[in-house]
Amino acid sequence: MKTFRRFVYFLGGYKLEMAVFMVINTVSVTVESMRPWTMKMILDNANINNQTNVYWFLGVLGVVVVGGNFINSLNLFLADKIKIPLSKHIRETVFKKILDLDFAYHVDKNTGSLISAFKRGDGAVDQIFGAVFQEIYWTIIYIVIAFGFLVKVNVSIGLALLALFLINMVLIFWLIRKNLSKRVAFNKSEDEISGIITDTMINYDTVKYFAAEKKEQKRLSNKFVEWSKNVWDYSNTFRLVDITIGTVSAVGMLIMLYIAVSGLNKGLTIGDVVLVSGFVTSIHFQFFHLFSQIRNIAKHAVDLETYLGILDNETTVKEASIPKKIAKTMGKIEFRNIGFVYPKNKEKILDGINLTIKAGSKVAFVGRSGAGKTTLVKLLLRFYDPSKGLVLIDGIDIKKIQKADLRSMIAVVPQEPVLFNNTIKFNLAYGREEATMAEIENSARQANILEFIEKLPNGWETEVGERGIKLSGGQKQRLAIARALLTDPKVLVFDEATSNLDSESEKQIQMALEVVSKTRTVIIVAHRFSTVRDADSIVVLSAGTIIETGKHDQLIKQGGVYEKLWNLQTKGKDGVDRLI
Ligand SMILES: Nc1ncnc2c1ncn2[C@@H]1O[C@H](COP(=O)(O)OP(=O)(O)OP(=O)(O)O)[C@@H](O)[C@H]1O
Ligand SMILES: [Mg+2]
Repeated sequence: MKTFRRFVYFLGGYKLEMAVFMVINTVSVTVESMRPWTMKMILDNANINNQTNVYWFLGVLGVVVVGGNFINSLNLFLADKIKIPLSKHIRETVFKKILDLDFAYHVDKNTGSLISAFKRGDGAVDQIFGAVFQEIYWTIIYIVIAFGFLVKVNVSIGLALLALFLINMVLIFWLIRKNLSKRVAFNKSEDEISGIITDTMINYDTVKYFAAEKKEQKRLSNKFVEWSKNVWDYSNTFRLVDITIGTVSAVGMLIMLYIAVSGLNKGLTIGDVVLVSGFVTSIHFQFFHLFSQIRNIAKHAVDLETYLGILDNETTVKEASIPKKIAKTMGKIEFRNIGFVYPKNKEKILDGINLTIKAGSKVAFVGRSGAGKTTLVKLLLRFYDPSKGLVLIDGIDIKKIQKADLRSMIAVVPQEPVLFNNTIKFNLAYGREEATMAEIENSARQANILEFIEKLPNGWETEVGERGIKLSGGQKQRLAIARALLTDPKVLVFDEATSNLDSESEKQIQMALEVVSKTRTVIIVAHRFSTVRDADSIVVLSAGTIIETGKHDQLIKQGGVYEKLWNLQTKGKDGVDRLI
């Protein structure tokens, strides 16, 4: 019902177009239903001695046929004038909603099913509009007009049509229920088949590593056994429709024709019989049509519900009603008594975090995998709001700053950078489209990736592949660093930004970091000690709490966890250059 209301709401934007369309629609079906009547009039007026009337009605038939065709085309054109902008309007609205939704929504979503919800939903808009306003409306009006004509010829024929209509409607609803329940099973099998195919495509490298081609082939064949059964069950329901509706309608048609023919000696004319036959033969097919259109609505209603249901998702990280503007960001960051639990989870990820990062300083977060380092960064960006406590920038609660403003102050080189399936230039300039080529080149130079780009045969226009697959881990990371530097933010966050780099590139990046960190606040989430040694402050996290803070030398002197990890790394037997 809510879906229906939403659909009507979107249609509300096309009131005038709908009114014109429905008028033409009604004219179209009325003209079409005049055919049997004009045939009757031609026959009833056939007279060897005086053909005038016959020619007159032949003229009317000509107008009905030619005009009907013209009006029908006009009708389809008017429907498109509504359907095309309607589809665009709904798609844009849903897309905007998805973009506006929280990080938490995107973490939970299944991209594959979201894309198919989009595609199926858009198809449903077209199908439901067509079924309700074009097909069913048209058919019902046609049957009503036919009923009027038939009652005029003979009341019994009219009543027979009414009875036929009622019986067929009961049959139609019964058959639709049966058909759709078989469709659910068929869809499930179909989804499982596509699931196996998609999964294999995505994991093609794992399949190759394990030479598992035959295994995958077999997995698919096994699934096809169940699929075949479900396809047959589903397709047999259509045969049931052919047999039941077909038989009932044929018998009804014969009864009506019998009444008409047997009425010939009781005042009915040959023209009347032709009129009855014209209507009943056409109505015979209209019932199949009615079945398929009502089924169409039932089938697509679910898709439409899923599609428009996307609009029901709530944003949990809300914008401030009267946002504060920061005229000039200094870059002071404060985490005040932070506690955090991920949505739909129970486990405390952060607890009692109190930390002040001075404007322009360089701070390192270190700690075991899963300690909560990246989570802290997510809170800073308002990907989530803390369950307890406040995050402040330059003394202002970040909940009071508009999300877009906040995020434009901070640039992040994420732990696992992903790129758009586009060119290197597109990806690098993503955060600042208006950047000049000189600026783009400069940030690439700082990130030590310029030389690599310039050596590529297609240079800046090189396509990086889906999620950046055509680049190595280190190249992707350096590109992400350049992308962040280009936005010239007040706060720079490197989340493990140098983990994929060889020692030589890492050194160069660090030198660049030295330069860029002079004018900004820099947070480095690091596993490698080489990156944290010269930090103004090192924050050691463990299981969501801060256990030590200080400069490298202080922490070493203190002889706590940091010192232990430092020793492990620098004096470790295997020389592994990692904390964990
Ligand atoms: N979206 C999420 N939903 C639920 N739990 C999550 C989510 N993201 C992370 N976690 C959990 O939160 C904890 C902290 O994760 P976080 O990514 O902050 O760790 P980290 O310190 O950055 O670790 P690493 O050094 O491995 O990157 C982990 O136990 C992780 O499993
Ligand atoms: Mg992390």
